[in-house]
Amino acid sequence: MIRVPEGFARSTVEREGEAGAAWIERLPGIVEKLTGAWGCVPDGAVMHGGVGVIVPVRRAAGAAVLKVSFPHPGNVHEPDAFAAWAGRGAVLLHERDDERFAMLLERARPTTLADAEDGDEVVAVAGRLSRRLAVAAPPGLPRLSEQADAWEEQLSRDAAELPHELSRRARDAAVATVRELGRAQPDTLFHGDLHARNILRADREAWLAVDPKGYAGDPAYDAGILLKSRAPALLAADDLGKAVHRVLDVFAETAELDRERVRRWSQFHAVQSAFWDRRHGLRIARTGPRLDWLTQFLDRLAELLSARA
Ligand SMILES: Nc1ncnc2c1ncn2[C@@H]1O[C@H](COP(=O)(O)OP(=O)(O)O)[C@@H](O)[C@H]1O
Ligand SMILES: [Mg+2]
Repeated sequence: MIRVPEGFARSTVEREGEAGAAWIERLPGIVEKLTGAWGCVPDGAVMHGGVGVIVPVRRAAGAAVLKVSFPHPGNVHEPDAFAAWAGRGAVLLHERDDERFAMLLERARPTTLADAEDGDEVVAVAGRLSRRLAVAAPPGLPRLSEQADAWEEQLSRDAAELPHELSRRARDAAVATVRELGRAQPDTLFHGDLHARNILRADREAWLAVDPKGYAGDPAYDAGILLKSRAPALLAADDLGKAVHRVLDVFAETAELDRERVRRWSQFHAVQSAFWDRRHGLRIARTGPRLDWLTQFLDRLAELLSARA
């Protein structure tokens, strides 16, 4: 029987309540059943992210990991994305059990791109990976364009209901992005949560992606995710504006995406996240100084990126 990491159990119960507690209780049994069915044995300490456990396993064909996620609609399309990539820029999918939100995946190394020191290198690796992952989207994946109406409504509701310091200009820029880029998007599969902790060192390719949402739409959307995850490094820079634009330059160039679209999606994402954080708080900080710190950063991003530059 595996040991479920305590911190993971606690945060799952905090977030999901009774359903979370019941799932945590079942989790060792689920892992045992799947390792048996897929001919593997546990092989090292259990790891975890925000929503799933990662159990290193060994099978006749070599090292792998078993990922079991909390049954949540946000995790439904992860195996579809891995299947479409078939190992191109992402870990291979060996087995899947959709009912249990479980997958057997190629094992990458423990180092993530977040361990890299050079900021340009982090962004360039993510950009090149974004390019590699941009393939024709298979049917059945959520089309981001279908969310555009809901996004637009949410933006105006948030602006009216929540106390905030976002300028009219920043809010209008976000709405314009939804209207002009949101409703007609390319039918491209992209990662959807492309930040440095979801990019792992590997042997088959230098870096491989894990933990995709599997969205169909404009891959430039991922620039906003990456930018937000760079908050600590960007805030340490002497000139925030210059550092932010540098991220966009490097990402657009390496991902081979239009620089303007990268800027506009990043601006939209900053506005959307700034409101989201005010409404819901963060997994890492529901309230308090850390939440305020990130919300202020998002506000500054939203303003900085409102105009073409
Ligand atoms: N295929 C893999 N090989 C090796 N380590 C992995 C693999 N997949 C995930 N991990 C490790 O587990 C962590 C969490 O995995 P992830 O899929 O991102 O889970 P979550 O959806 O909970 O964020 C990763 O940051 C990484 O350290
Ligand atoms: Mg992750």
